[in-house]
Amino acid sequence: MPPAEEYQAYLKGIWEREWLTNNGPLVQELEKKLKKYLEVDNLLFLNNGTAALQFAIRSLQLKGEIITTPFSYIATTSSIVWERCRPVFVDIEQESLNLNPALIENSITSDTSAILATHIFGNPCDVDAIQKVANKHNLKVIYDAAHCFGSSYKGRSIYRYGDISTASFHATKLFQTVEGGAVITSESELNRRIEYMRNFGHDGPENYRGVGINGKNSELHAAMGLCNLVYAERILNSRKMQSLYYDKLLSELNAKKPAVLQDADINYSYYPLIFEHESMVVDIKNALEKDEIFTRRYFYPSLTQLDYVGEQTSPVCSELAPRILCLPIYYDLQESDQERIASIILHAQHHCTSII
Ligand SMILES: Cc1ncc(COP(=O)(O)O)c(C=O)c1O
Repeated sequence: MPPAEEYQAYLKGIWEREWLTNNGPLVQELEKKLKKYLEVDNLLFLNNGTAALQFAIRSLQLKGEIITTPFSYIATTSSIVWERCRPVFVDIEQESLNLNPALIENSITSDTSAILATHIFGNPCDVDAIQKVANKHNLKVIYDAAHCFGSSYKGRSIYRYGDISTASFHATKLFQTVEGGAVITSESELNRRIEYMRNFGHDGPENYRGVGINGKNSELHAAMGLCNLVYAERILNSRKMQSLYYDKLLSELNAKKPAVLQDADINYSYYPLIFEHESMVVDIKNALEKDEIFTRRYFYPSLTQLDYVGEQTSPVCSELAPRILCLPIYYDLQESDQERIASIILHAQHHCTSII
């Protein structure tokens, strides 16, 4: 949360203007500042990251099958189904947990229209390899970059890759606007189309351009974003420090972290650990919960388990998803808390391995 008085200063302006939504001045200011901060050509602030995915699929007029990852939050898959396309899961890489580009080609059929990959935990996919397959088969590429605020690849914001990248600014994200999201594309025409789509298709009060829906966000949400954007660098730095400190504290732990591409810079938005056995995940989670410390099994179970995706298998994902645990990481996390967390984990590991 930003300091309350900084948010209240924005509220004062909103009360004076009485302009609450419909592309207000704070929404415009936030979009402008985000474009500058992220060095992207176009960015549209939307009501959430799931809507951003739906706008991406809709605006690219995708049909039939969309190749996607089974290791992500449910919104990646559900938005494909919601837009009446069929998710086709391609397995993930063992090391990075991202969609495995080497397996994409095998799953392409005459019905495939796009690839929708997630940069999981803010860790960039192999975007060069994915783009190469997409170009060869004339497929669109969407990146679910919900976790990626501040991540980059080859020195450019990761949002600049693919036909469209989508962001989530949900309250749980590193940069948050309470609820919120964005679509980012370098194609101006596509950006314009989505701009109409997010506002019912309105082209002035009495004219419409195509079918639209309500994807707008409000002045109150934009104000939260403007307050938090000032602290973005500080938040990113603190995450990095906290991650490095966990690395140090947990150097004796029998667990791995996901591999990062050489040219990628991650934002440390999560601290995922891959354990050797699911039993260790369960024991460590329970041990921490006894002390009121809450971890998450992100992302478990594999999305292939959903009852609306048909029979599909992704053996690597199904084997890995039960073995991953994300440790607490947030701006105010103190070193003393990290030490307490690490000590509980190491103690639980000791107990667990002596049983195994
Ligand atoms: C990978 C991923 N995609 C999409 C979303 C959806 O974003 P939102 O909650 O803003 O709709 C989330 C998280 O919430 C996510 O983790």
